[in-house]
Amino acid sequence: MNRNENKTPVLSGRDLNKEYTNRDRKVRPLQHVDFDLYPGEILGIVGESGSGKSTLLKVICGIEKPESGKMFYNGEEYTGKGPEKTGKFLQMVFQDAYGSFDPRMKMEKSLKEGTGASKDEIVHAIGEVGLKEELLDRRPRHLSGGQCQRMSIARALLSHAGVLLCDEITSALDVTTQAQVVKLLMEIRDMEQVSVIMVSHDLALVSMICDRIMVMKDGVVVDQGKTDDVIANPSDEYTRKLLNSIIAV
Ligand SMILES: Nc1ncnc2c1ncn2[C@@H]1O[C@H](COP(=O)(O)OP(=O)(O)O)[C@@H](O)[C@H]1O
Ligand SMILES: [Mg+2]
Repeated sequence: MNRNENKTPVLSGRDLNKEYTNRDRKVRPLQHVDFDLYPGEILGIVGESGSGKSTLLKVICGIEKPESGKMFYNGEEYTGKGPEKTGKFLQMVFQDAYGSFDPRMKMEKSLKEGTGASKDEIVHAIGEVGLKEELLDRRPRHLSGGQCQRMSIARALLSHAGVLLCDEITSALDVTTQAQVVKLLMEIRDMEQVSVIMVSHDLALVSMICDRIMVMKDGVVVDQGKTDDVIANPSDEYTRKLLNSIIAV
């Protein structure tokens, strides 16, 4: 059940449109996209490769500019003109955790420079993501994939952003580590005043942890609602196909 359905969304988009021209062909990865993210929830965005999921996150955090549409943070419109302007309240967590850190820098310095946090805050945050303090002395290549992804989640927490934008953050991890990172996200959601958008092509994963889900196909939102409702009663044929593909696995 969505605990927050009577609250103001922490983040919303209305009628978002984005197009690219690839050679002479127009691609429209966002077509009239509306979404709401409520305080303290995990919203899953699911859909096959190329459906526009990453484009939506890029538009939300200002890396890409939409052709039209509006976005709101706590009810106030923002334009997302450049990631630096929105970084205070939105933080991306990437699939490639290694690539998101400077390879030459030890983790403590990376976290400090990326967030301006004190040593005490850093130690506290890495405890929260289940890592030992001694790992702060390592460079990214001397961490496992799961440890590195936890470091990137710690960095997002240290930035005190209200919203974490997670793009396929478990795809590069083995199954056991995936489960641990997912558990961590759920703990953070329960512990902190933070809301999460979790993008994944994996409907099974998304349906396990998300309060609500949104299904995208070719830039269009074809289904959305509370996770249980969408799973039990998918309104779109495409969602049904995605569901069947899970059951078949
Ligand atoms: N920078 C770009 N330039 C041109 N086309 C792009 C760009 N980014 C994404 N696209 C196209 O937009 C569509 C959606 O891509 P994307 O949002 O990455 O999908 P997803 O994350 O769901 O796999 C794809 O057809 C992709 O080729
Ligand atoms: Mg993507």
